[in-house]
Amino acid sequence: MQPLKSMHIDACVGQIAKTVLMPGDPLRSKYIAETYLENPVLVNNIRGVQGYTGSWKGVPVTVMASGMGMPSMGIYSWELYSVYDVDNIIRVGSAGAIREDIKLMDIVFAQGASTAGGYINAFDLPGIYAPIADYTLLSTAVGVAREHGIDPKVGAVLSEDNFYHLDGTVNKKWQSVGVLAIEMEAAALYINAAYHKKRALAICTVSDQLVTGEKLPNDKRQMGFNQMMEIALDTAVAMAGK
Ligand code: HPA
Repeated sequence: MQPLKSMHIDACVGQIAKTVLMPGDPLRSKYIAETYLENPVLVNNIRGVQGYTGSWKGVPVTVMASGMGMPSMGIYSWELYSVYDVDNIIRVGSAGAIREDIKLMDIVFAQGASTAGGYINAFDLPGIYAPIADYTLLSTAVGVAREHGIDPKVGAVLSEDNFYHLDGTVNKKWQSVGVLAIEMEAAALYINAAYHKKRALAICTVSDQLVTGEKLPNDKRQMGFNQMMEIALDTAVAMAGK
């Protein structure tokens, strides 16, 4: 009999941990595995979407890339929940801040993820769905961030389909209803988690300040990413058994 695998992930069922951390970029996944995990094993490399399972502080953790955008995150998180029975997915990404009080290097915990539609429309709901993070995962991660000496920025993000806009007023409109930052994956992750009765959270380091036009230089980008990763890894440990 063939081992059970999903369509886009080459790992056998049982090779993926209960908590999966998902950066957008496959090279980030490799970096996390090599920098943090004990005994990392490559469990997926279809389309170069590298996934590794190892352990952190004795707890099994998988890191696998999501790719960019909701269609890509939608596929991988769906298969992780439904085929591999993953309990927790934590996106570890970057975001562009659209409020002036959200600074470069801040870490945004996406309590909710508004979106213009696209991915979530396929669920054909009779109204406008509000994608939200799992409360246990969110509150655990916020507690871990505070223990790390980080002031977590908890609030709404926008998961958008278009990185480039023809209409320059879009960010201002979302900012007027309190959205902190823009990214491109959280809403798809959240609705998939809800549909499969699983947990999800997106954490993003602010790499771009879209009000002032500032951008994180490369060395700071790495430093911000490491801080966020350590919070996500310790959250995976804190979630074991929850
Ligand atoms: N838009 C969407 N996603 C992002 C951005 C942005 O400006 N910066 C980092 N991720």
